[in-house]
Amino acid sequence: MGLSRRRCCSCLFVIILVVVVTFAAAITIRKNRHRSEDGPVPESPGHVVKKYAIALGLAVQFFEVGDPEIDHKCWERPETMTEKRPLTQINATFPGTEVAAETAAALASASLVFKNINSTYSNLLLMHAEQLFTFADTYRGSYSLSIPKVQKYYNSTGYGDELLWAASWLYHATNDHSYLKYVTGEKNGLDLANWLNLTTPWFSWDNKLEGTQILLSRLSFFGLERMSNLEGNGLDQHKQRADIFICSLLTDSPTVSNSKTDGGLIWISEWNSLQHPIGSAFLVVLYSDYMRTSRTATLNCDGQVFTPSDIRSFAISQLEYVLGDNPMKMSYLVGYGKNYPNYVHHRGASIPADATTDCKAGFKWLDSTEPNPNVAVGAVVGGPFQNDSYIDSRNNSMQGEPTTYNSAVLVGLLSSLIASSSSVPMSLS
Ligand SMILES: *[C@@H]1O[C@H](CO)[C@@H](O)[C@H](O)[C@H]1NC(C)=O
Ligand SMILES: *[C@@H]1O[C@H](CO)[C@@H](O)[C@H](O)[C@H]1NC(C)=O
Ligand SMILES: *[C@@H]1O[C@H](CO)[C@@H](O)[C@H](O)[C@H]1NC(C)=O
Ligand SMILES: *[C@@H]1O[C@H](CO)[C@@H](O)[C@H](O)[C@H]1NC(C)=O
Ligand SMILES: *[C@@H]1O[C@H](CO)[C@@H](O)[C@H](O)[C@H]1NC(C)=O
Ligand SMILES: *[C@@H]1O[C@H](CO)[C@@H](O)[C@H](O)[C@H]1NC(C)=O
Repeated sequence: MGLSRRRCCSCLFVIILVVVVTFAAAITIRKNRHRSEDGPVPESPGHVVKKYAIALGLAVQFFEVGDPEIDHKCWERPETMTEKRPLTQINATFPGTEVAAETAAALASASLVFKNINSTYSNLLLMHAEQLFTFADTYRGSYSLSIPKVQKYYNSTGYGDELLWAASWLYHATNDHSYLKYVTGEKNGLDLANWLNLTTPWFSWDNKLEGTQILLSRLSFFGLERMSNLEGNGLDQHKQRADIFICSLLTDSPTVSNSKTDGGLIWISEWNSLQHPIGSAFLVVLYSDYMRTSRTATLNCDGQVFTPSDIRSFAISQLEYVLGDNPMKMSYLVGYGKNYPNYVHHRGASIPADATTDCKAGFKWLDSTEPNPNVAVGAVVGGPFQNDSYIDSRNNSMQGEPTTYNSAVLVGLLSSLIASSSSVPMSLS
């Protein structure tokens, strides 16, 4: 695809991902110490890295909501829009397993966060998470087949990953063995994971499988659970996938995937290129924290070994690229540092606050050659091309459009790296 005026909007489950990642991030920075065997010593959080704290303060400020068809006919500020904003529904006849399961995952992870803050609220979240999961699993169907108008923007490649993601969070939130059986059993877990047929093996708005495997790897690392051989075997398979995923990212690994820019950024797609490196780096930090907490000394990638520090350093390299250590010397987090995109493809940022404008008249601000009058603080733009270049132009939606799912994973990554070292609680519930 070339540069175009195709403009994307976010869907419900994209916003939900913000919630899941934010809570997951909150959990990663909780302090914990235990065990005393060989291996790296689990650490309490080190000193706060000031620059990451500043970046995190910006990144949490960005949210957006929209409906693709109606919204794309207009270029106007959300504050002044008068067009209809109809809700779209999924139900038993028009199922949307991705949406229901992703929401279940978000509510289950949120219930963990609120467990010690307000147990009534936590239980309420969990009750709805379980109901939604049952609904998602009973009425299986892809939301983009039920509601074809979303295909042009966010076409799902399948819902198996969301079901496993939801069941994995529900297991952590409830300790109910039926969820562990679900994710490890042949009927659901191994079948839905579709091991050999991954078309999109990258953590993204569409694919939660790598996130699921990292989350489940906690159980293998910490070995806290009583389980049957079948469950143990299923968990081993998830853990193996998690190991393969981490090895495919580390630059010096013999099994590294060659999908990187010369500047060292993981690079998978032209549209919204930053979602994959940021999401992967987030999972990488979690994995390294699990290693340290469980005193696992090394990860062996086909003979080459990596310590938790090596693995964490890789995540930091991706974050540093995003924040400006790249050939363009450009921070892709808007508002951070001195050099960030000035022509972000964003309605609210491009229209002056005092302009009187409407749906159609607003397009002159899209076409204006002036930089944005307002700074979309905290927005994470799509990102660079594979040759590390970036065209700062408002009509360049491929590179210059910010998304909630980029900001969400950046919030997770920054939260996990805000302290100079960290380990994680072994039990979440
Ligand atoms: C079920 O969802 C579809 C698709 O959103 C919608 O058209 C339909 O009206 C809904 N059915 C009911 C009974 O609400
Ligand atoms: C706890 O959550 C319940 C249910 O949402 C709510 O009614 C109550 O006000 C909350 N309590 C506090 C102290 O916030
Ligand atoms: C969306 O995905 C479905 C199922 O994979 C496919 O049949 C359909 O052609 C895709 N739609 C678009 C617009 O790419
Ligand atoms: C992969 O997909 C092919 C074609 O759709 C199918 O025949 C095969 O059984 C799938 N393999 C697995 C492991 O799911
Ligand atoms: C970088 O790649 C983009 C997209 O393929 C291309 O349009 C651009 O000309 C390239 N820039 C340089 C400096 O090679
Ligand atoms: C986008 O805008 C730039 C100037 O900012 C212009 O040079 C280019 O031709 C425009 N591209 C399209 C596809 O409109």
